Amino acid sequence: MAVRIGLAFNLKPEAPAPVAGADSPSPVTPSHQSEGPALPSAQRVLRSDLEQPDLYAEWDEQGTIDAVAAALSTIGEVILLEANETFPERLRAARPDFVFNIAEGLYGPNREGHVPAICEFFGIPCHASDPLSLSLCLHKGRTKEMLLQHGVPTAPFTIARTRDDARNVALPFPLFAKPCFEGSGKGVSVQSLCHNRAELVARVDALLDTYRQPVLIETWLPGLEFTVAVLGNGEEARCLPIVGMRFDVLPPGAPPIYGYEAKWLWDTVANPLQLFECPAQVPDELTRDIERAALAAYRALECRDWCRIDVRCDGAGRPMVVELNPLPGILPDPRDNSCFPKAARAAGMSYDDLIRAVADIAWRRISGESLLAEVR
Ligand SMILES: Nc1ncnc2c1ncn2[C@@H]1O[C@H](COP(=O)(O)OP(=O)(O)OP(=O)(O)O)[C@@H](O)[C@H]1O
Ligand SMILES: [Mg+2]
Repeated sequence: MAVRIGLAFNLKPEAPAPVAGADSPSPVTPSHQSEGPALPSAQRVLRSDLEQPDLYAEWDEQGTIDAVAAALSTIGEVILLEANETFPERLRAARPDFVFNIAEGLYGPNREGHVPAICEFFGIPCHASDPLSLSLCLHKGRTKEMLLQHGVPTAPFTIARTRDDARNVALPFPLFAKPCFEGSGKGVSVQSLCHNRAELVARVDALLDTYRQPVLIETWLPGLEFTVAVLGNGEEARCLPIVGMRFDVLPPGAPPIYGYEAKWLWDTVANPLQLFECPAQVPDELTRDIERAALAAYRALECRDWCRIDVRCDGAGRPMVVELNPLPGILPDPRDNSCFPKAARAAGMSYDDLIRAVADIAWRRISGESLLAEVR
C-alpha cells in the first residue's frame, strides 16, 4: 500500500487588484498561472497594501507547492494540508504516515515549529527538523549561542532590544544589523551594513520599529560568501556542491550583501542576476573548511533530513557560519535561482530527484525503511 504523505505548506496570498489609475504594482500572480511571461520576483513578493511589504516573502507560490506535490506523488499518496487555522483538524482526520513540511508559519518566533509541533501533539511523524531546532534556527542569536557552545565558527555578536542597546555596543565597526528572527532577506538590506554608531542606531531603530523584535548586531564579514545544502542524517549527512556568491554582478556601488534588494528587487526573472556559482570555484582546502563548518552547524543544531547553511569568510579568510535554514527555499524554476535545487542539479539530481531523496531520508529516519525501495 502506498505511503500516505501529508504535504504541509503555506500558500502566498495574492495582492488585491490595483485600483484603476492608482500608482500601485501589478497584482501578485503566480507565474505558472499567468498567460504571458513569468512576472519578476519583486512583483510576486512585495505587497504595497501591507505595513510590512515583505510579510509573505517566506511563503510558497502555487507553482512550488504543485512541483513538490508532483514529485512526492511518484513515491506515495499525497494529501495536501494547507497550514491554516483548520490544519490541526484536517491533519488529525487524514492521519498521514508522515508529513512533508514546507510550511514557514506567519507570526512569532516559533512559527516555523508550529506544523511539526502539531504533528508531535497528534503523534504523526514529520519530515525535516523538529520544532525545537526550527525555533532555535529561526532565532539567529540563539543559533549563534548554540554554535559557540559547540565550537562552530561564527562572528562575534550582541543583541539589541532597545535603541540604547545599539548606542552602547562595544564591538568594533563595521557592524551588520538584522532582525533576530526573519528570513528570505526580510529586514536585511544594504543599510544593514553600519560603518559608525550613528548609522547603527538609526538602523536598529528602524528595524525595532518595523519588525518589533530584537535586532542581531554582528561583526561585518567582508570575505567570500557561500551557501551549503546539507542532506541526510547522522553519519550519512553530506554536503551537496557548494554554492558561491559573485557580488561583482550587483549594481555598481552596491555593498556585497545578499539581502532583500539582491533577492527580490535586483534579481528578477526578466533580468536574472548571475549571482551564484555552483560548484563554487575555491581551493580544496577552503571547500573542506566550509563543509566542515556547515556539517558541524547542522549537528550542533540537531537538524534533520535537510538544511541550507549560509557561510561567509571573515577578514582573515576563515569561514564563519551566518545562519541555518532548516526549511530551505525550493523554487522549482531554475531561473528563480533557488540555491538548494541549484546545488542538487550540480550533483546530478533533478528537482524531482531532490524531493524524492529528502522524503526517502525522512522516511528511513522515521520507519527504518526506504520509500524509494518500496516504490521500486
Ligand atoms: N555578519 C555579516 N557580515 C556580512 N554579511 C552578512 C552578515 N550577516 C548577513 N550578511 C549578508 O546578509 C545576507 C542575508 O543575511 P541572512 O542570511 O542572515 O538573512 P536571511 O534573510 O535569513 O537569509 P535567507 O534568505 O537565507 O533566509 C547574507 O547572505 C550576507 O550576504
Ligand atoms: Mg541567509
